[in-house]
Formats: sequence, C-alpha cells, structure tokens
Amino acid sequence: MSESTSTETDVVLKLDDVTIHNDAADVEVVRGVSFTLRRGGVIGIVGESGSGKTITCRAILGLLPPYFEVARGSIELLGDDIGDFSRKQWTAVRGATISAVFQDPATYLNPSIRVGKQLEEVVRVKKGLRGRAVKERSLELFRAVHLRDPEYVYQQYPHELSGGMLQRVLIAIAIALEPQVLIADEATTALDVTVQAEILDLLVELKQKIGLSLIVVSHDLAVVAQLCDEVLVMRSGDVVEQGPTERIIHSPQHEYTQLLIAEHEQYGLERAFALEESLDELTDVKELDYV
Ligand SMILES: Nc1ncnc2c1ncn2[C@@H]1O[C@H](COP(=O)(O)OP(=O)(O)OP(=O)(O)O)[C@@H](O)[C@H]1O
Ligand SMILES: [Mg+2]
Repeated sequence: MSESTSTETDVVLKLDDVTIHNDAADVEVVRGVSFTLRRGGVIGIVGESGSGKTITCRAILGLLPPYFEVARGSIELLGDDIGDFSRKQWTAVRGATISAVFQDPATYLNPSIRVGKQLEEVVRVKKGLRGRAVKERSLELFRAVHLRDPEYVYQQYPHELSGGMLQRVLIAIAIALEPQVLIADEATTALDVTVQAEILDLLVELKQKIGLSLIVVSHDLAVVAQLCDEVLVMRSGDVVEQGPTERIIHSPQHEYTQLLIAEHEQYGLERAFALEESLDELTDVKELDYV
C-alpha cells in the first residue's frame, strides 16, 4: 500500500491512465481513463454507445472479454493493484468489495428458481450464514431495497416481477456482501421514468446509509447529473471532458459535452430535476414498486 495521507485513506478506487486494448482486433478501445473514487463518492460515466463505458467497468471488475487487456495504466482497489490479483483473489473481492448491477436484471437471475432462494444462495455460500439467519438476512436485504411485502416477493419467480422489482432484487444481491463499491451500468435504462427515479433514489439512500461508493454509467446525462459528484464524458474510447458535475453541466468545455447538454435542454435535464424534486413524495408511495 502507498503512504497514507489523510486525503488518501478514504480512496476506495483509483484509475490512473487506464488504456484497454483489444488484441484480437488490435485496437485501443479505451484510452487514458483516470479518476479517484472516495468513500461515499459518486462518479458518473456518460457517453454514446460504444464509447467504452462498459469496457472500463469490466476492467475494474476484472471481467474483460477474451483478448481484451489493460495495456497501460493501473487500477487500484483499496490500495491494491488489481492487475496482480489471482483468480482466487478475484473470487474473494467480487461481490464482497466491489459489485455491479446492469441493464436487463432478468438475465442475471435463474428463471426457474424463486428470487428469495437466489438471494439466500449468496447469503449462505458467500456470507457463510446458516439456518434461520439466512432467511432473516435475505428479508432484511429485500426491505433495504424497499421491496414492498418482502415475504411475497421472496416466493416469486423472476418472470412474475416487474422490471423495477427485478432491479431491486439484483441490487439486494449486489449489496448482500456489503461491498464498498457498486457499479450501476445502465441499471435504470430499461425502466420507465418513474421507476428509474425510484431506483436512482435507492442508490443514493444506500450510499448514505451504508457508505457505498458508486460508479454510475449511463448514456443519459440527466441520470448522471442527478447523482454524481464528478462526471467523465467519453467518446470513442477517450475521456473528452471530466470534472465536478456542476461545472460540466453549467460550463461544458468540449463540444461533445455541449451537444449532450443541448439535447437535454429539450427535455432531459428539466425532467430529471423535476423528478428529483418529487422523489420525496415518491418514496412514500410504495405501490409504485409494482409498476
Ligand atoms: N465482448 C466484446 N467483444 C468485442 N468487442 C467488444 C465487446 N464489448 C465491447 N466491445 C467493443 O468495445 C468498444 C466499447 O464498448 P462498450 O461496451 O464499452 O461501450 P459502451 O460505452 O458501454 O456502449 P453502450 O452505451 O452501448 O453500452 C466498442 O467498440 C465495442 O464494440
Ligand atoms: Mg455499455
């Protein structure tokens, strides 16, 4: 571990000039990504399709596709260089230190097993709980993600739940081992606007309550702007602009960022901030969990 100054001790994840190469196609898919995520911090990555957002996240999770590699730079998780991790270390770290939720939650669940049992499996195997404690902890997690009537949801198969409920189930699984970093990659993209706002609200609540640090990935600048302290704007594998959210939104320097903001001025950011104002009301209306 590097020397700890008072400002370095709360750094959970640090990317320094990360460049990712696809050896099969001999192309650099991501170039020079650097950021520092602190405990309780939220960093957003925004950019068009194919700009390298997911590949960057996959590098952080040690899950790059075949023939992809971090060709330059470093990724440090809690001060350790993940480039040195063995397979065994990754098994210990994934879920327990760093976790992720993606778009299309149904694809990450087994369609023929009740969702409660799927969460139980994680709690039993990875958390090492036994007996009644397994169900108690699982129900507690379902309550933490505001699934109304957790006992009922517990008994459901994935196809019996709405997209918003499934994403809550996936978030419950993702936080089951109390990770320090949660990556939400387009986690709300497939959901309608109201449910999207609720899930974003849940992420903020989890950040505050359990001290999670978040990486929020979206092609939608409005989503990122609502949640994040710092934003990276990516285009074709490059970070074209990076800075505090306020600065990016109010004083974008790069023409691509300006374009993203101009597109949103039509409806997106206004919609987002209007939603933000109504979030307090929404959190009291739990029927909306079932939308
Ligand atoms: N499994 C893969 N095999 C080969 N190339 C891939 C793979 N995944 C991504 N790529 C390529 O890597 C580049 C970055 O893709 P990435 O998935 O990171 O984009 P993204 O910003 O997440 O886009 P989206 O908004 O569509 O999710 C693209 O050129 C893409 O085609
Ligand atoms: Mg992606």
